[in-house]
Amino acid sequence: IGKQLEIYKSVESTNDLLKDLAREGAVEGTVVIGDEQTKGKGRRGRSFHSPMGKGVYMSILLRPEMDPESALKITVIAAVAESLAIEELFDIKAEIKWVNDIFIKGRKVSGILTEASMEMESGKLEYVVVGIGVNVAGTKEALPEDVAKTAGFITEFADKDRSRNEVAALILNKFEELYMHWEFKDVLEIYRKRSFLTGKEVTVIKNGEERRAKALDIDDRGNLNVEYDSGARETLSSGEVSVRKN
Ligand code: BTN
Repeated sequence: IGKQLEIYKSVESTNDLLKDLAREGAVEGTVVIGDEQTKGKGRRGRSFHSPMGKGVYMSILLRPEMDPESALKITVIAAVAESLAIEELFDIKAEIKWVNDIFIKGRKVSGILTEASMEMESGKLEYVVVGIGVNVAGTKEALPEDVAKTAGFITEFADKDRSRNEVAALILNKFEELYMHWEFKDVLEIYRKRSFLTGKEVTVIKNGEERRAKALDIDDRGNLNVEYDSGARETLSSGEVSVRKN
């Protein structure tokens, strides 16, 4: 991973750029990094604010032999890789909020956007682009007001100073190790230990509807099991889940 590495001063979105390269035949492991993104994308059509020089904005191309439902595993691996890298570099606890956000002291410092393309005929995955955005060094002022309410930068919480290069390199190294050499169940074990939704009272937003539930656990594929107040249980493979304060 990262043998083919393209670094840009400014890109619209590293995910979009890498998807173009993937369609042109780029090899597995190709990585694109931008010093800033002018149209950084978050999940659910949101934008991911990516100010110049303040974060790591990168995407990794994979061509895995797996069924599309297993693509969630890749997000799980990326989240664990990130959490391990941040803890090692900054000596600070980095929790994972299912499915793909990294939180430090209750603030989101990173998100992951995994985009997959399927081959029409075989129904198999053609490629997967894993986009990782980490807010490394900055202050609230670098973020729009609504984002600053819940998000933060690692250096606001850590005493150590690390370069964005170090952060990018260690995330890639950890990702490669976990993706290539680890059994998924062992990755999940780390994920579960760092998952901060488990056991919490949450709100699940699905099809625009909000429901109260309790987050039970993470299953073997990385899905979240919840129990609604009605007693009904559901296995979520994606969706908006937030911790309830009242
Ligand atoms: C989220 O928090 O909803 C996901 C954010 C993902 C952001 C990363 S930054 C690199 C890559 N390129 C993008 O346009 N988005 C992802």
